[in-house]
Amino acid sequence: MESSEFGQKLECKTKELERVIYRYLPENVGLQKTVIDAMNYSIQAGGKRLRPMLMWECFLLCGGREEERGFVEPFLAAIEMIHTYSLVHDDLPAMDNDEYRRGKKTTWAVYGETFGILAGDGLLNYAFETAVRTFDFCGCTGLPVTSDYTSRKYVDRAARALAVLAQKAGIFGMIGGQTADIEAEKQTSPVTEEQLLFIHEHKTAALIQAAMTIGAILAGGTEEQIAALEKCGYNIGIAFQIQDDILDVIGDSGELGKPVGSDEQNHKQTYVTLKGLERAQEDVSVLSQEAVRLLDAFGEKNEFLKQLVLELIHRRK
Ligand code: IPE
Ligand code: IPE
Ligand code: MG
Ligand code: MG
Ligand code: MG
Repeated sequence: MESSEFGQKLECKTKELERVIYRYLPENVGLQKTVIDAMNYSIQAGGKRLRPMLMWECFLLCGGREEERGFVEPFLAAIEMIHTYSLVHDDLPAMDNDEYRRGKKTTWAVYGETFGILAGDGLLNYAFETAVRTFDFCGCTGLPVTSDYTSRKYVDRAARALAVLAQKAGIFGMIGGQTADIEAEKQTSPVTEEQLLFIHEHKTAALIQAAMTIGAILAGGTEEQIAALEKCGYNIGIAFQIQDDILDVIGDSGELGKPVGSDEQNHKQTYVTLKGLERAQEDVSVLSQEAVRLLDAFGEKNEFLKQLVLELIHRRK
């Protein structure tokens, strides 16, 4: 695929995903309006929408059909809500203390710290309120059913996807990684490679693995496919966080939409401080090639997904 063709597809797919996510946002009414405003502000600020994109492309890779889109959509919106909540809380003064995100003032900087906390809480909870709407389509919730997802196989897939989402976002996933990340800032001894890989795996790879395996699960992928995508998500996730650490040093804040130098300011030991810039860049490339190799083993092909993984190596934002 030519790079211009890929660029056009990426833009088109990102816009489509954004429409889906926006459709699932809560209406800002009632005495809770302020928290809903803050939630919607953080989601509508933008972002690459990488996690829903990976979910949808893995769904297609595992034989999911375009006509089944409605079945997947609540999960596409839910994973972006969880990711966005993780950023809203990550930016709080008590954590990374950052004032710019996605090219705009961070949620706490606009709405105050209290509403930064509540907006994050709201997004996390609303993600699950949204994901469980998949069961409406399956006829489990008493609502009139207008879809073909009433067979037991769809109910089973949605239930398993929900369990993955919950686990990968929690203490044995993203929250666990953020815990180890913040504690490592106070550590005076050098962080070990093992420790840093634990942090990257949990704070970043976990949600990417959730996105990819949920795509496979909802498509009815085989156990082998689900396991391969979990591995693939690990590689992509570690590479993604190393590149994030690199961009915190050599990126452009205008392009990134968030500050550079945040890690240094927080005395954070990162992949770059541990291995140096050059080795870090090499490792991003090696991990990404390994991810592509895992995708190549699939009978069905998804060229767009492969190229997406390769493009992430050189991403500037
Ligand atoms: C930022 O994620 C946080 C990390 C896990 C490195 P993204 O770089 O995907 O942020 P958005 O969604 O595009 O803003
Ligand atoms: C955050 O890592 C990962 C999350 C779970 C939010 P960083 O703290 O490096 O992410 P940025 O650089 O602020 O986006
Ligand atoms: Mg952080
Ligand atoms: Mg941060
Ligand atoms: Mg960072």
